[in-house]
Amino acid sequence: MGPPGAGKGTQAGRIAAERGLAHIATGDMLRAAVRDGTPLGLEAKAVMARGDLVSDDLIIAMFRERLGADDTSAGVLLDGFPRTEAQAGALDDMLLGLDRSIAAVVVFDIDEETVVRRLSGRRMCRANDHVYHVESNPPAVEGVCDIDGSELYQRDDDQPDVIRTRFRKQWIEAAAPVIEYYRGRGLVSNLDAAQSREQVSAELDELLDGLGARA
Ligand code: AP5
Repeated sequence: MGPPGAGKGTQAGRIAAERGLAHIATGDMLRAAVRDGTPLGLEAKAVMARGDLVSDDLIIAMFRERLGADDTSAGVLLDGFPRTEAQAGALDDMLLGLDRSIAAVVVFDIDEETVVRRLSGRRMCRANDHVYHVESNPPAVEGVCDIDGSELYQRDDDQPDVIRTRFRKQWIEAAAPVIEYYRGRGLVSNLDAAQSREQVSAELDELLDGLGARA
């Protein structure tokens, strides 16, 4: 869990690949639905562009279907879900039904000004949501994804005013009770996400190794 631009997607993609976990990123799933023009995508597009949360009903239904896929059996890394108390409750019910549990909740701590700076320079690839930064992590060829060759673009919600709305509404207001819920269950570890990529990676690896989370 963490505010927009904290580096969740950057780290989650790496960790899932290295540890054989399924990476479920609800933001990536929603952007794919928008690209494909599905009914979910049509409903989510404007909500996402203004920095609000998509409704719990839609997100929970989308997540439930994804969690049922075959690739989740070795373990799952959740990125961007749950973000509300209703989503956390629904996740508990789903896990109970599957006789599975949450190993850890990692909270990425970072201040608002740093995320505004980071997200203003972020670029993502159209095909697979691979993440770049124009200064700190540029692609080899400007505007082209190193991994799949697709076009890089700037997200609609990466404008400074929308970033600030996301930070306040989605992080300060909606996520706080979810974190407290998990903290009360002894699951939360905080991480300083304003450090360099290498420092964040090292701290996160150490934390996960300590949990025996290697699949
Ligand atoms: P989502 O796509 O999940 O967006 P987010 O949570 O706002 O997170 P971001 O993707 O913006 O940031 P990140 O932490 O992954 O950072 P990144 O690694 O890219 O959700 C989008 C929207 O979908 C939401 O606003 C909402 O509308 C909807 N939605 C999604 N899930 C939902 C849910 N469960 N319920 C309801 N609605 C939902 O890194 C950012 C930049 O920083 C990059 O350029 C990167 O290269 C750079 N960077 C990364 N690490 C570092 C570092 N250590 N130092 C310097 N730069 C770094």
